[in-house]
Amino acid sequence: MSKDIHEKPFDEATLVKLSIFRDYTREWLPVFIAAKQIYWNTLNIVDFFAGPGNDIKNTPGSPQIILSELTTHLPLIRSKNLKVNIYFNEFKKKKYDELVKFIEENKKEFPEFNFEITNLDFKVAYQNWYPKINKKDCANLLFFDQNGIKHIDESVFQQIIALKSTDFLFFVSSAHARRFSEHENIKQYLKLNKADIDSTPYYHIHKLVQEYYKGLIPKGKEYYLGRFSLRKDSGNIYGLIFGSGHVLGMEKFLKSCWKIDPERGEANYDIDKDAIMPGQIDMFTGEVKKPKKKEIFESNLEKYILDKTLTNDKQIYLHTVTNGFLASHASEVLKKMQKDKKIKIFKGTLNSSVCKKGIATISIEII
Ligand SMILES: C[S@@+](CC[C@H](N)C(=O)[O-])C[C@H]1O[C@@H](n2cnc3c(N)ncnc32)[C@H](O)[C@@H]1O
Repeated sequence: MSKDIHEKPFDEATLVKLSIFRDYTREWLPVFIAAKQIYWNTLNIVDFFAGPGNDIKNTPGSPQIILSELTTHLPLIRSKNLKVNIYFNEFKKKKYDELVKFIEENKKEFPEFNFEITNLDFKVAYQNWYPKINKKDCANLLFFDQNGIKHIDESVFQQIIALKSTDFLFFVSSAHARRFSEHENIKQYLKLNKADIDSTPYYHIHKLVQEYYKGLIPKGKEYYLGRFSLRKDSGNIYGLIFGSGHVLGMEKFLKSCWKIDPERGEANYDIDKDAIMPGQIDMFTGEVKKPKKKEIFESNLEKYILDKTLTNDKQIYLHTVTNGFLASHASEVLKKMQKDKKIKIFKGTLNSSVCKKGIATISIEII
């Protein structure tokens, strides 16, 4: 069987990856196009490993997804006079030719967009475009859908997280990083610790990869890194890493993840081996069975509120998002605590607006 994902129909894990990419693009565009106050006049959407545009069954790949998601925003882009640059790179000549053909056939719908399509090795494309995305007046959405692991090394990662108004998604073969962690040609890109690998269950390997990248974020820098684990039919574990300097970006990424995985918001498989059937009732409590991850989040949140580790809406919101949960999950806990008379009626705000400068926080009152 060919390893090239474009020589056969996309498999289930690729479809999940692309659906997160679509969903995130759908969430990202309005934030940067429809915001009341616009600090940028240029949007750069960059797909560094673009492929030909679709698979052999014509299922849209990332380039087609980007164009179709932009279509609905054309009136606003025009009325706000925003400049849009679409940068696509693909290394394989045959795929590059197909991509160029696809863009030639479709770009008349986007007459004011600037399209650049290149047929380069990632490093060269990245060096060419970095100065264009490293500008004060632009917002960037970057997609690095690499095969394997090697392109997002420490120095590329550091450069990406230093960019202003930039969200990114990259794909990484976490199982590969684990299997070959001792090889020099892997260690030079991703330095996973052997003892950590040995103590990490195979299903959780992508979490370890995310933690490695988290460790590269300079101390004190506000930056959010999300993850979604993907298991292929072969059993190999891959994943997406998401990055944003803004908590709203993280919230939106999490929403996309929870749509795909309503139990834990983090994988296309039963990552904690909870083995729960949808709607299954717990024999002991008589309630719908919850995944371990959710139980732990709920009990920790209650504990942190009662022991005053978390004292206001902003702290609760940030704790929730940085632990991979949505505000709706935190609200459920707060409602139950109100019902059980552990806290007074809470009227705080559990969304990213509570993190804006100058917004007063609302304290939670324990009874
Ligand atoms: C996982 S696929 C990307 C799929 C694409 N996002 C889509 O939705 O169809 C990775 C792509 O990167 C290309 N590629 C491989 N090595 C590359 C390199 N060194 N630089 C740039 N592209 C490369 C491959 O030909 C392949 O099309």
